[in-house]
Amino acid sequence: MPKLKLKKSVKKYLIIFIIIFILLIIGIKAIKTYKYHQTYEYKLLQINYKLDEIKILTSKLDNKYLDDLLTKEYNSNIPKLLTEKYFMLKNLDRYLNFISKNPDKALSDIVALVNVNRDRDFYEELETTDTSKGSAMLVNKYHALSKDYECEDIVKVSTTYGYSGMSLNKEAYDAFKRLADDAKKDGYTIVILSSYRTYEYQDKLWTDRKNQKGIEKADAYAARAGSSEHETGLAIDVADYNNPINFGEQESYTWMLNNSYKYGYILRYPQGKEDITGYDYEAWHYRYVGADLATKIHNEGITFDEYYEFYLNN
Ligand code: DAL
Ligand code: ZN
Repeated sequence: MPKLKLKKSVKKYLIIFIIIFILLIIGIKAIKTYKYHQTYEYKLLQINYKLDEIKILTSKLDNKYLDDLLTKEYNSNIPKLLTEKYFMLKNLDRYLNFISKNPDKALSDIVALVNVNRDRDFYEELETTDTSKGSAMLVNKYHALSKDYECEDIVKVSTTYGYSGMSLNKEAYDAFKRLADDAKKDGYTIVILSSYRTYEYQDKLWTDRKNQKGIEKADAYAARAGSSEHETGLAIDVADYNNPINFGEQESYTWMLNNSYKYGYILRYPQGKEDITGYDYEAWHYRYVGADLATKIHNEGITFDEYYEFYLNN
C-alpha cells in the first residue's frame, strides 16, 4: 500500500514538473519572440527590407536614423547608397531627393554630385571659405572668400618662372620653382601666365566674359569674384614657354599630369569632371595644396572639391 502511495505521488510530481517545464519553455519562447519583435531586424523586415539590406542598414546607421527609417516606406536606394565609397550620412536626404529628380543617374554620381553641393544652384548658398585650412582651403561656386580677404605671403614671381607682373603665395612659389627646375631637366619649360588676382581683377575678368559670351559661358570659364582660387594666391595658370597655346596638347602637360602632385600641385578642373567642378576642362589651371595632400588626391583620383568635402569637411 505505501508503495502504491509513493508511486502515485511520484507520478503527481512528475506531471507538475512536466507542466512547469512546458510552461517555462513557452515562457522563454514568448520572451524571445517579444525581444525579437523589438529589434531593428524584425521591424525592418516588416517594412520589406531584406536581410542582407538590414545588415547594411544596422551596421552603418545609428538608432536615430534607424528609427527615422521605420517611419518611411521601403526604399531600395538607401542600403545601396550606404555602400557607396563616398557616402556621407549628413547628405542622405539630399541624395534621395536628388535621385528623385535624376532617376537615371548612377548612385556613385548622385553621391559625388551631392557631396560637392551640385544639388544646389551655383552661388546660391555661398559659405565663407574656411581659410584656417591654409593651403587646403576650398574656394569654388559654393565656398567663397570674403571681399576683404587678405592673402598672406604674396611674393613676386621672377620672369625666369613666369610672365611679368605675376605674384604668388611664397610656399606655392617655392614649390613651383622646384617643379619648373625639374621639368626643365626633362626638357620642358613650364611658366606661369596667371597667378594671384585681386577680388576686383577677378570681378573684371568675369564681367568682361559675361558681357562677351553671356552668364552661362562666363560661369563655365571664369569664377565670380570671391570664388576664384586665384584670389588665394595658391593657383596658377601655366603654359609651355616654347609652345604657349593649347597647353593640354603639349608633352609638358603630360609631364605636369604625372609629376605636379609631387610638388604639391593638382590639376583642378580635369576633363570629364565638369559636372563636379562646375567648370569646363582647364588643362592649364593648377592649385597648390601641399605635397602630402596633392599626393593623396592624386592617388585617390578624385577632384579637390570631392576630396575636401569627404575627407576634410565630413
Ligand atoms: N578659370 C578659373 C575657374 C578661375 O576663374 O578662377
Ligand atoms: Zn586659372
